[in-house]
Amino acid sequence: MKDGITAHYTHGQLLERIIDGMAAIGKTPGTVTVDELGPVDEFHIGGREASEDFIGQLQLSAKDHVLDIGCGFGGTARFVASRFGSRVTGIDLTPEFVSTGQCLCEWVGLSRQVELHQGDATAMPFPDECFDAAFMLHVGMNIADKAGLFAEVHRLLKPGAVFGVYDVMQTSEEPLVYPVPWATAPENSALASPGQYVSTLERSGFEIIKTRDRREFASDFFSRTRRTLEKSSGAPPLGVHIAMGHSAPVKISNMVENIATGRVSPVEIIANKQ
Ligand SMILES: C[S@@+](CC[C@H](N)C(=O)[O-])C[C@H]1O[C@@H](n2cnc3c(N)ncnc32)[C@H](O)[C@@H]1O
Repeated sequence: MKDGITAHYTHGQLLERIIDGMAAIGKTPGTVTVDELGPVDEFHIGGREASEDFIGQLQLSAKDHVLDIGCGFGGTARFVASRFGSRVTGIDLTPEFVSTGQCLCEWVGLSRQVELHQGDATAMPFPDECFDAAFMLHVGMNIADKAGLFAEVHRLLKPGAVFGVYDVMQTSEEPLVYPVPWATAPENSALASPGQYVSTLERSGFEIIKTRDRREFASDFFSRTRRTLEKSSGAPPLGVHIAMGHSAPVKISNMVENIATGRVSPVEIIANKQ
């Protein structure tokens, strides 16, 4: 399954497309900022707006060393480093995302504060109890072994540390329409319900602090995005469609339909290591 996931996310020309998009807004690697990269490098429903709200609940500070699991090309990691002053370590399975993310960190002067590693979230190359907090945005949909994943996160966190999850979760038995942004076909999708996340987290040694279904936020976000697109002449130079390649329009419209019909929903879970 892992090779299929890496193949699904590998773009081939991600860095070049980001540079093209930056040029269209008059920016270069020497002048672009973390906020200007936000529309392209936050690969989850609601983008930076969702991160601001979700990460804002984790009470991070400059004293924290934070783990971003399945960091993609590091948009949320750079946001956390620049907004809260935290040191951030990210890990992601897809080599192209990690190398692209490392370039973006250099461009915005964050490569000392944000380290991105290639690797598998179910076997991370870090010592026990070395992180003050962890988060994961839109990653669990690709990881069938959630018990293994949460056991690994539990091992890496200090006692009492917070773990935030923002994933697309299964909310009905009805089959999904594919492709979606995280999978071309069902073989690479490993959805679970909010109840399954909660029970697996509890069995892995976490206490659940809060769960929040973000379906309404997602519908509102999609409607606002559609209105903006209708007013302009097509997709913006920098947008999340870039990471999804040529099939971005069909992946996005299938995801909107899967959410609108109640098959899946983006859900947040905030837990503490016991
Ligand atoms: C939809 S993207 C989200 C990326 C990032 N969290 C964000 O919100 O911008 C899902 C990411 O999960 C990564 N991923 C999937 N399975 C993984 C695994 N077993 N270990 C680490 N990363 C994984 C993929 O490579 C991809 O970058």
